[in-house]
Amino acid sequence: MSNVQDVQILQFAQNGDERGHLVVVEGQKDIPFAIARIFYIYGSDRSVIRGRHANRKSEFVLINVSGTSKVKVIDGTNEKVISLNRPHMGVYLPKMIWKEMFDFSPDSVLLCLASETYDPAEYIRDYVMYLKEIQSYE
Ligand code: TYD
Repeated sequence: MSNVQDVQILQFAQNGDERGHLVVVEGQKDIPFAIARIFYIYGSDRSVIRGRHANRKSEFVLINVSGTSKVKVIDGTNEKVISLNRPHMGVYLPKMIWKEMFDFSPDSVLLCLASETYDPAEYIRDYVMYLKEIQSYE
């Protein structure tokens, strides 16, 4: 079963020169899964908490391509907060990790790469249900 130890900080190469930077993220190479879906979150602020769910199937990599935010990950026993504060870093989230994204800067654009196409049925949005489900696996 997933735990917060499996959450990984990823550092991507910056292909920088005098024109600026270019960061490449290839599925199954720079991140541990093939990319099936991307979405991005912007217009959130310091008062907002997003996420608050776990996924039965999807794995994610989150990258703040502009601005900053934080993500709290919880596995039912341990928790950890990761600051996303550089456009060339990401965080890998395995499936069945509870996640909460918060503390968005006004210029935050949070890019999310996912291993699965969207299926609302694989989202667990109730924390008590999440705890019950992970306990049932033990
Ligand atoms: P939601 O999962 O609540 O966003 P977050 O986890 O960042 O707080 O999604 C917001 C809305 O967008 C919700 O109505 C579902 C929809 N949505 C899709 O249609 N497809 C997707 O891939 C995602 C992530 C969300």
